Amino acid sequence: MSSMFESDKLSYRAYEPLNDFDTLHAIRTNADAFRQAYWDDPVPQSVEDTNAFATRVRSKYILFVIIYLKSLDHEEAKKDNPIGYIGLSKPEEMQTMHRNTRVSINIVPNYQGKGYGTEAIQWSLGWAFRVYGMHRVMLRVHERNQKALNLYRKLEFQEEGIWREHFWYEGRFWGCIQLGMLDRKWEEKQMVK
Ligand SMILES: CC(C)(COP(=O)(O)OP(=O)(O)OC[C@H]1O[C@@H](n2cnc3c(N)ncnc32)[C@H](O)[C@@H]1OP(=O)(O)O)[C@@H](O)C(=O)NCCC(=O)NCCS
Repeated sequence: MSSMFESDKLSYRAYEPLNDFDTLHAIRTNADAFRQAYWDDPVPQSVEDTNAFATRVRSKYILFVIIYLKSLDHEEAKKDNPIGYIGLSKPEEMQTMHRNTRVSINIVPNYQGKGYGTEAIQWSLGWAFRVYGMHRVMLRVHERNQKALNLYRKLEFQEEGIWREHFWYEGRFWGCIQLGMLDRKWEEKQMVK
């Protein structure tokens, strides 16, 4: 029987510093991935910074899990190994009635482009709507992050607007596109499967 913490090729586990710190730190110290996924000023990340990030997300997220590639039937992994993380933010304080959450994902570069991001986002939508009873899952993507935009468009997230010239990168400002998925749209998609 499959667990609620797994999907086809992936499993989702609590962050355990002993097993997962290296993966999280590799993501946080990869300058390019850092700039795609975070809005923070790109300062070098120390071990302490990564530990602080892990503590912060666990307190601010309803769900923060490390994505593991299951070894079963997959040549790529001799044993289950961590390939990234995915999280759903807590609704803002005193704004729980709106049932909105923001999804964050980061897959280590070697494992990108193999369908794992798509699988993990789909799993997180099921979690948000079915387990947590959320109404809307949203996120903001920098206009230059084509990989992420393609993924969300493919999954039929709807574009909700753009924050113009919000993101400074390599000498110019870029927009940030806001996308969202509503519970009813997601349920509709499950019906046609
Ligand atoms: C964005 C991210 C989560 C996508 O995950 P992924 O596992 O690489 O994506 P997938 O392999 O599932 O591909 C999903 C879609 O993305 C697009 N995509 C994947 N690789 C791509 C590439 N190199 N160039 C352009 N589009 C690409 C495709 O449309 C693909 O759909 P397809 O396979 O039907 O063609 C991942 O690349 C990542 O973690 N990037 C760094 C952090 C980040 O940008 N996070 C998101 C912030 S909003």
